[in-house]
Amino acid sequence: MLKLGVNIDHVATLREARYRGLALGEPCPVEAARICEAAGAHGITAHLREDRRHMQDRDIWRLREVVKTRLNFEMANSVEIVAIALKLKPEIVCLVPERRQEVTTEGGLDVVGSETSLTETRKRMNDAGIEVSLFIAPDLRQIEASARTGAQFIELHTGQFAEHVADAAKGESELQRLIAGAGLAHSLGLQVNAGHGLNYENLAALNRVPHLVELNIGHSIVSRAVFTGLSAAVTEMLGLMKSYRG
Ligand code: PXP
Repeated sequence: MLKLGVNIDHVATLREARYRGLALGEPCPVEAARICEAAGAHGITAHLREDRRHMQDRDIWRLREVVKTRLNFEMANSVEIVAIALKLKPEIVCLVPERRQEVTTEGGLDVVGSETSLTETRKRMNDAGIEVSLFIAPDLRQIEASARTGAQFIELHTGQFAEHVADAAKGESELQRLIAGAGLAHSLGLQVNAGHGLNYENLAALNRVPHLVELNIGHSIVSRAVFTGLSAAVTEMLGLMKSYRG
């Protein structure tokens, strides 16, 4: 069964829009995590950015106490954040690019260009009992490099797909890249997640991408929650995901 990890960063984004710099305010991302889990989400994803744009340190520690399913800690491969992750002990970390030189043209992590440092971090995380995922574009060279790092997962960046899905030719070509990428990753022993820009409308097209384990979805769920409430928004997404056959 395809799993849903709800990315709750945008709940914190909304809070920070009003309460930045204050250790209080609504909406509370920890409460959001509770509601998502109660609605059936299989995991909670949160990104502690180096600039603390949305999630704050106190959120991450509270999430660690509260999340009962699986905490996926999105993070840059930086000294400060690696140290936090090793103390936090999420079930899994997803390494994402934050600095320009770590980013490929399509927005995923440049694993080819930082294979040595990513391998080092991968080892440190695994030694602490934390699984590792790398957020990459569906680029065959990046996938091969990801396998060489020894990571357990990749998360395929679906941003280009989401952006072009309305254009039949471009959308199909992006979908083909995801299909090929997932196939290669699976053949190399990597487990495959996907995320970025997925929503209630474009999700169905992903049914053609094989081997997907988990989708990480944030913005569309948090946006729908404004009108329906978070529990209903998660339930509806889970309902749509049931049609995935792998
Ligand atoms: N996966 C990763 C690695 C991300 O950085 C993000 C965005 O924070 C997401 C998934 C979720 O993207 P969206 O908010 O567009 O659903």
